[in-house]
Amino acid sequence: MKRKILVGNWKMNKTIAETIDFVNKVNEKALKVREEELIVGIAPSFLCLPVLRKLANGIVCFAQNVHFADNGAYTGEISPLMLQEIGVNASLVGHSERRQYFNETNETCNKKLKTLEKYNFNGLYCVGETLKEYEEGLTKEVIKKQVLEGIEGLSVEYISRLTIAYEPVWSIGTGKNASKEIASEICWYISEVISEKYGKEVGDLVYVLYGGSVKPENIKDYVNDSNIDGALVGGASLKAESFLQMIDNLLE
Ligand code: 13P
Repeated sequence: MKRKILVGNWKMNKTIAETIDFVNKVNEKALKVREEELIVGIAPSFLCLPVLRKLANGIVCFAQNVHFADNGAYTGEISPLMLQEIGVNASLVGHSERRQYFNETNETCNKKLKTLEKYNFNGLYCVGETLKEYEEGLTKEVIKKQVLEGIEGLSVEYISRLTIAYEPVWSIGTGKNASKEIASEICWYISEVISEKYGKEVGDLVYVLYGGSVKPENIKDYVNDSNIDGALVGGASLKAESFLQMIDNLLE
């Protein structure tokens, strides 16, 4: 059976001091729940990664982004080699805010995922349709394209260990979470799209998370669903109390 996953995406929030305070409150529980089959991860800013990595031995550290090149003239970017040096070997790719504000495309996401494979990093690839696409009934079409173009050319072994997060853009930070039915259907569909192209065994192995206005009150509705392997949480992951509450609710 797959272990359930809870990842907090802090986006551009929290200083180093705030990160230390959070870790002090959460680490012990995170360490304990590892034995209870729950994987807990945090994606802080790049600047907070070293301290999180050092102090949080119960928490998987994710970068929020990574560049596809090893090094070079890419001002403001961070390469996987730099992350590797501080012991980080997991990264988000293609979060909708990266796609929306920094022009990331399925093609750049694909390059990044290929780099993650090259360096044996765990990838958490984010997909999701906009409100307009949702209202026009294009959700599945958009998701299929994002998934297949993003993972094109990766080895089947690497695809099998990928995590994909379904985060409808209209539900992120809006309080308008997707219904459990929608989240379940699209998470199932993601596995199905991968199964169709790479075989059912591969589709079954890929982890699929839901993200978008997840909070302590609704996390169980999503994560107890057999098509959903966990949650990617923004706002509600920022306070240690609410993060701990989500862990407790998942273990109930
Ligand atoms: P919220 O949980 O704040 O809606 O953000 C979701 C998200 O973008 C996680 O990556």
